[in-house]
Amino acid sequence: MAEKDGTPALGDVEMGGRLSGLSGRLLVLTVLFVMLAEVLIFVPSVANMRLRWLNDRLNTAAAAAVVVDGLPDRVLPRPLQDETLMATGTKAIVLRRKDASRMIAVADMPPSVDAKFDLSDMAPLSAIRDAFDTLAFGGDDVIRVYGPVADSDLTIEVVLEDKALRRAMLVYARNVFFLSIGISLFTAALIFLSINRMLIRPIRRMTENMRDFAADPSDPKRVLVPSSGRDELAAAGTHLAQMQHALQRTLKEQKNLADLGLAVSKINHDMRNILSSAQLMSDRLADVDDPVVKRFAPKLVRSIDRAVSYTKDVLSYGRMREPEPHRRFIPLRPLIQDVSDMLGIEPRSGIEFSIQVDHRLEVDADGEQLFRVIHNICRNAVEALALQPAGARRRVLVQALRTGSVVSITIDDTGPGMPAKARENLFTAFRGSVRAGGTGLGLAIARELVHAHGGTIALVEKAAPGTQFRIELPDRPVPLDAFRNRA
Ligand SMILES: Nc1ncnc2c1ncn2[C@@H]1O[C@H](COP(=O)(O)OP(=O)(O)OP(=O)(O)O)[C@@H](O)[C@H]1O
Ligand SMILES: [Mg+2]
Repeated sequence: MAEKDGTPALGDVEMGGRLSGLSGRLLVLTVLFVMLAEVLIFVPSVANMRLRWLNDRLNTAAAAAVVVDGLPDRVLPRPLQDETLMATGTKAIVLRRKDASRMIAVADMPPSVDAKFDLSDMAPLSAIRDAFDTLAFGGDDVIRVYGPVADSDLTIEVVLEDKALRRAMLVYARNVFFLSIGISLFTAALIFLSINRMLIRPIRRMTENMRDFAADPSDPKRVLVPSSGRDELAAAGTHLAQMQHALQRTLKEQKNLADLGLAVSKINHDMRNILSSAQLMSDRLADVDDPVVKRFAPKLVRSIDRAVSYTKDVLSYGRMREPEPHRRFIPLRPLIQDVSDMLGIEPRSGIEFSIQVDHRLEVDADGEQLFRVIHNICRNAVEALALQPAGARRRVLVQALRTGSVVSITIDDTGPGMPAKARENLFTAFRGSVRAGGTGLGLAIARELVHAHGGTIALVEKAAPGTQFRIELPDRPVPLDAFRNRA
């Protein structure tokens, strides 16, 4: 069963049996390579064997010749000549000195010679060529072979048929062949066993573990237990196990997130209904004549409206991704003022919220989203300031400046500064929070919204104690057509 895109489904990849797998292929290759090595050894060794064989003949003949040479009678009787030739396996024996030569023995019918070889002067290559010549075409030739007698200045020369030589060479070749097969099988078996132990078995174990793990990656029992040892496979096993652990962690986080997502959707769903009733009631507050109510009612109504539209957005979107920003130029100062009102800073807390933003400064942004960004950051600042010891200065300062087409907003507080642990996972959802009751979403949401505007948000290092965030928001690029139309 293969999936539509052609990739086989997990668990489909079958490993071959011992012999059709890697080890079998290794076995065959080893046999082939050892045989090849044996052939390479065979070529010079058969040439060597031929030379040795011829040298033996020459030496035997030389021994006989030297003895005969010492006899006073110059010519051996016929029967003695025949016996000498038979014993040395030759057809003629001649002993040469510098000045003279002596025919020691010769057959009745002096043979005609097909080839001659000087054993004192044999280059390796020609020895090899001669050997193969004998093996391939020899057997019916008569050859003349000569060479020096030990260290003397005598030269011995024999004439012989190459039939016996060829037979000996064939026996030698056959022996080498069987020996090669034996050696290669033995070597291959050794290599097969050791490779099987060292490589194939751990690889198989790892492959089986991967298949097992893929079937149920969440089961902690299926994580590979890496083998001890320091070789490459043990390292690969350790890496695999680490990867599986990391994958399990991620899976668990994903599952938690999915559960959380569902929970958030449910809460959000019912919260919207509750807020809708609150909205109905707060609308009526506008009609009440009480001056205090008149002062707070619009803020209350705005807050509830905001909450309702936000819950609607989240639900209509179905997932926790933010909708695209609806950008337009909005004055920034009132928006920050809204944030300040929404934070509901108690006068008793001694926290000062100051805004240094030009009244005319406009920013090209989605008002609701920018509100949430600044609100999240300012709320963090206020929460941090609330924990400051009595007597410490507590101030949140929001500044903004336009430079060309970029508005930068700085939010600065005199709090304790960003804790090191929070810094490590700054802007990462669910990870950044180090305070009790925090979900660690505030900064993550802020960053997502700022990025959707094509802007950046960053923690700024500063000398004085406290925390400073800087948001930079660029205006949308103006399409030239729109600009010309406006002009
Ligand atoms: N101005 C600040 N001063 C000191 N610490 C801060 C400041 N702003 C953020 N932090 C630290 O960064 C952490 C992460 O902030 P973030 O807003 O992402 O999450 P949270 O405030 O813990 O939870 P949430 O905002 O989701 O309710 C906070 O827990 C806090 O420790
Ligand atoms: Mg927060």
